[in-house]
Formats: sequence, C-alpha cells, structure tokens
Amino acid sequence: MTELTDLMLDPKAAAEAKQAAVAYLDWDLTERQLCDFELLANGGFSPLTGFLGKADYDRVVAEMRLANGALWPMPITLDVTEAFAEQLETGTRVALRDPEGVILGIITVADIWRPDRLIEAQQVFGTTDLAHPGVAYLMEQSHPVYVGGQIEALALPMHYDFGHLRLTPAELRARFKRAGWRRVVAFQTRNPMHRAHVELTFLAARQTEANLLIHPVVGMTKPGDVDHYSRVRCYEHVLKKYPEQTTALSLLPLAMRMGGPREALWHALIRKNYGCTHLIVGRDHAGPGKDSQGEDFYDPYAAQEMVAEYADEAGIEMVPFRMMVYVQERAGYAPIDEVNEATETVMNISGTEFRRRMREGLDIPDWFGYPEVVAELRRTYPPRAKQGITLFFTGLSGSGKSTIANAVMAKLMERGGRAVTLLDGDIVRKHLSSELGFSKADRDLNIRRIGFVAAEISRNGGVAICAPIAPYASTRRDVRAMVEAVHGGFVEIHVATPIEECERRDRKGLYAKARAGLIKGFTGIDDPYEVPEQPELTLDTLQATPEELAQQVILKLENLGFINLR
Ligand code: PPS
Repeated sequence: MTELTDLMLDPKAAAEAKQAAVAYLDWDLTERQLCDFELLANGGFSPLTGFLGKADYDRVVAEMRLANGALWPMPITLDVTEAFAEQLETGTRVALRDPEGVILGIITVADIWRPDRLIEAQQVFGTTDLAHPGVAYLMEQSHPVYVGGQIEALALPMHYDFGHLRLTPAELRARFKRAGWRRVVAFQTRNPMHRAHVELTFLAARQTEANLLIHPVVGMTKPGDVDHYSRVRCYEHVLKKYPEQTTALSLLPLAMRMGGPREALWHALIRKNYGCTHLIVGRDHAGPGKDSQGEDFYDPYAAQEMVAEYADEAGIEMVPFRMMVYVQERAGYAPIDEVNEATETVMNISGTEFRRRMREGLDIPDWFGYPEVVAELRRTYPPRAKQGITLFFTGLSGSGKSTIANAVMAKLMERGGRAVTLLDGDIVRKHLSSELGFSKADRDLNIRRIGFVAAEISRNGGVAICAPIAPYASTRRDVRAMVEAVHGGFVEIHVATPIEECERRDRKGLYAKARAGLIKGFTGIDDPYEVPEQPELTLDTLQATPEELAQQVILKLENLGFINLR
C-alpha cells in the first residue's frame, strides 16, 4: 500500500501556526479550491504536497506527470486574482481560509505565474469548446494567476452534513483492515443509484472477488446534477440492498472536472489512496456531455483504455462497467452482452424518460428503481403540479403587466394550494430597490434582486409573480436560470402592448414627461426594450380584457402541467 502524504500539523504546531498567520495575507478559498484543499490535506491527492508549482504544472498538463516523473493527470492549481498576486513573492506565506474566514491551512508561495488557459484546456481536456464544463470553468470562472507551493494543513474543511459517511483515506484504509477487506472495488458515481447500478456493482465485486466501496462524489459534479443531499439519502437506502458486510458507503469531497479519460485515471489514483485495489470505470466515465456540435467529446471507451493502460503504474486495476439490463423473461437483470435480444425482451428506461416521468408524476416501475429511492427523488423533484413557480411578466411601462398580474394572483388564490407573492415593479422599487435608478446597471441589479427573491419563493414551493419591465434578454435569461437551478418552474409572459398604445393610455403621465425630456432614458422612448424571443406566452392586450388575459395565463399553466385541470 502506498504511503499517504500527511500535510496535517499536530495540534500544538497548528495552534502556533494559527497565531503566526495573523500577520499573513489571507486568501478565501473558492468552492473548487476548498474541495482540492481537502483532498490535499487528507492525503486523497497523495503524492501531492500542495498546489502545483510551475514545473509540476507544465509537465502534468503536457504529459500527465509531475516534474519528478510520478503519474498525475490533473492540474491542481491555486488560482488567484491579479490584485492578490501583486502582493505576493516567493516565500510569502498565505493563510487559506474557508468562506466563513476559518483558517484551514498555510501555503508558502514557491511559484507565481500566468498560465495560458487555452493551452491548458486543449491539453488537459482535448478541447477549448466552452460546452465542456471543465473548459467553461477554466476559461470563465478560474482566476488568471496561479500560485504554487507547499501546504501545511491546520484543519479539514468543516462539513455539517453526513459526517458519519465522510471517511478520510486513512480512516477508510483502517476500516478495510479491521474488516479484513484485502481487495476492494470502488464505484464512482455522481448520480442516484437504481437497480441496474446495484446489479452491476454487485457483479463487478463478485467477478473480482472483492468487497465493494460505493464512493460517490459530493464535492462539485456536473452542473445540473441531482444535489448531493438527495443523492446521499438515496445511497443510504441502496446500501441496504447489498448482502450484509459486503459493501461500504463513503463520500468523496472531490471537485470533478468532467475530464473523461484523464479524469478516470485521476479517479483511479485517488481511489488507490483511499485503500481500494480496483475501480469500476464506466462507459464515458466522467464524461462532459456533448460538444457544441452535438458530438461526444471523447470516445466512450477511452476512459477504460486509459485506466487499463496505466493500471500497473497507478497501482489499481480497472474493472469495466458492464451495462445491466432488465430481461422480462428472466424477471431479473443480466449484462447486456449476455442477452439474446432475438429471443429475450430487454427493458430499460433512459435518463431522459426517467426525468420526464418524474416531472409528470408518472409511475416508475419497481424493476427499474427502488421505491425508497424514487420516493426520495420525488421529494426533491416534485411533479410540476407541486413545484414552486415564477411567473415573470415583462413588457413596457403601461403595457398592463400589473393589472394582469393582479388578476392572475386573484385567480390562483381563489384555487388555493400554493402561497402566492406578487413582486410588482413599483412595489419592488419601493421596498427592495429603493436606491436604484434606471441605468442599465441599476435595472439589471433590480431584476437580479427580483430573481433572487423569486427563486427563494419557488424553491419553497410558492408562486412568485413578477411584473417588472425587465428590458434586457440576458438578465431575464439569468433569472430563469436562477429559478430553474432550485427546481422551480419559470414561465415568461410577454405583455406585448405596442409602444403607441402604452403612450396613448399613459396612465401615469410618464410618456408625456419622457417626450417633454423631463425623464431621460425612458424604456421604449430613449432606452431599449429587447422583445422576448421565446416566452412561454405572449399576451395581446389590444384584443382582450385583463380578465380574459389572466384566464389565458391560467390555461397556459394548466397546459404546462403547473396546475391541475379541474
Ligand atoms: S426595470 O427596467 O425592469 O428595472 O423597471 P421597473 O423596476 O419595472 O420599473 C419601471 C417603473 O418605473 C417607472 N419609471 C420608468 N420606467 C422606465 N424607464 C424609466 N426611465 C422610468 N422611470 C420611472 C415606471 O412607472 C415603471 O412602472 P410600470 O409599472 O412598468 O409602468
């Protein structure tokens, strides 16, 4: 068993280091850096002893090796802002802190450099396409300057969730030793597990004559994945399905890069550090999805080939993931390559179909998913009729947004069910955004604030009705993303009253003032309004009354499944 790197200071040294750090510069670790720090500090990234320096970085990017030749496929870097980097020089000691300001470690700066992130993307991920989440993170979220250096760890990041399942490499090794588990096959996952996963992991363990470690990633996974709280509750149900004493569950605080083959090899090295002898490598393991042309980024078997090729050097064996399917005649699962599809009926539910059934509250058969797991996921992803929603009215001043929004609110309250909150433009400007004006920046901030509140309301199952002008398409898109990120439904409604009609009505007299030059930057007069391209609904206020228009909105909500037909 390879040695684990130990970067943790003993309690006395840690107390002294904490004192000394009062005089150091502080860097608040980003979410990604926090995950990387944890695996550096707990030995999961052995043999690394800190964030990579320039020589290690260059060789890792080019050849998947540290400067000393040791195999390491993924650059682990501390990226900082230009402003912060300006304060650094070789030998500077920087206190690394969590988001609450708790000191976790100290880095002694050895190298400071500005990487070519396009080259890094090309070499590490094999592409510069921003549809790749690892590339998008590198190009759009990471800071421009890298800092390398040795780390001293004072503490591991604090986790208040599932503490009993967060075993470090040393703890997991000790647990395997106590149980007499000499061969352990790890299963990497970022998804909920259904019956097919249990069958394939069980088969892999039997074939390799090993015990099984379910080792899901709970740090950062692919954007849009099921949140780890829900997943871990599912894994806990699934664990009970294995024969007793054969299988363990532990959580891995890794920040994935979705780097396909390189990432698979990285996963293997990490699992070796966690005491495993084998890793199940999936088809398209750690795959980033499709590229901007709709093609796969990597050959689906490249990850398996990569891990198999380096198995000896990595010190951990590759076990190919065998796709398991339910065979009706056998009333059980079998590897797809052992099924005769001419005489047997293979049953499967694709990921897309599974999500559709969840969304619409339809049946998920027991042969596919364990009822406990499905119930857990239904709590997280209620069917549309129980989801929180944001109704986002947008249109010119005086277009009738508020009137229709009020009518819709009354109709929803009349039906009962969800709590409804109206975030009308004028109300918001009085309470939430009283200090803001009408510049582009102020309007954007105003809409983002509305989006934040609407997302919170939707997250908690309510209905948020928003009725601002919201003249910019990109800001509206951001608000949609904020709501959808918390599993809320987003319905954009364009109140498409033409400017001439708004001006003719001019209920507040604002158009007259704008024409007279008394108000500058008035939407539709001398400030832009970007017409929504794909709203869920467009309302024509010239042809119908507010009552009728509100009814159209209700029908749309029924049609989309957000409210049940009565
Ligand atoms: S925005 O662009 O979405 O932030 O605007 P919003 O918060 O909806 O506020 C619009 C109301 O403010 C009044 N008002 C103006 N509107 C547009 N442009 C300028 N320059 C302006 N100055 C004041 C106007 O009464 C809007 O109310 P509604 O209800 O839309 O008529």
